[in-house]
Amino acid sequence: MKYFLIFMGLILTSCSNSLTEEEKEKYTQKGTEITQATYKELSSNLMTQMKLGGPKQAIPFCHTEAMSITNSMEEKFNVTVKRTSDRIRNTNNLAADRELQIVTQYEKAIQNKSDLKPIVEKNTNGNVQFYAPIIIDAKCLVCHGKLGEELTVETDSLIKTLYPKDMAIGYKNGDVRGIWSIEFKNN
Ligand code: HEC
Repeated sequence: MKYFLIFMGLILTSCSNSLTEEEKEKYTQKGTEITQATYKELSSNLMTQMKLGGPKQAIPFCHTEAMSITNSMEEKFNVTVKRTSDRIRNTNNLAADRELQIVTQYEKAIQNKSDLKPIVEKNTNGNVQFYAPIIIDAKCLVCHGKLGEELTVETDSLIKTLYPKDMAIGYKNGDVRGIWSIEFKNN
């Protein structure tokens, strides 16, 4: 009887808190599709603005348009799309505790040269949540790089007028800039 109860307890906890391997695979695929589509949308818009007028044009564009671009992806896929970091620029993107843990986890994985795989789990709302790393590449550095190097003092002061609490500078190529955090709404 004792073992039976332990067994039932295990089954119940595994049903309520964790996902089956099949579900994990399904949401990893969906999450990857959504983050890739959003990344493509954000970066192609950003690059167009950079070509048109450099950081002076692209920064105010991100300031007003980044949210509406992610919002349109939320509607399209019926999810919540968040980009967050341990060093945020936009205070609307503040990380929750679990998100901070995951950023740290990816930073450690980079140090250990291990793979940065997406993470899928149930969140405290009982919904499925997908996380994946956002990595810095060369085209990010004009706005997130080292001050006085790729990031000019002029660009930095423009950023600081829009985001006085900006912490998102000093990165180098290959660094973890932050994470995608996608919440699925009953699908
Ligand atoms: C032209 C300047 C510019 C470039 C280039 C740029 N960003 Fe940003 N980034 C911003 C601005 C402005 C914000 C704040 C507005 C927003 O929410 O997107 C931001 C916000 C972010 C955020 C949201 C988290 C936060 O700190 O608020 C992430 C993640 C991010 N950038 C990653 C990147 C990555 C990765 C690249 C390169 C592929 C990149 N950025 C290139 C200007 C830039």
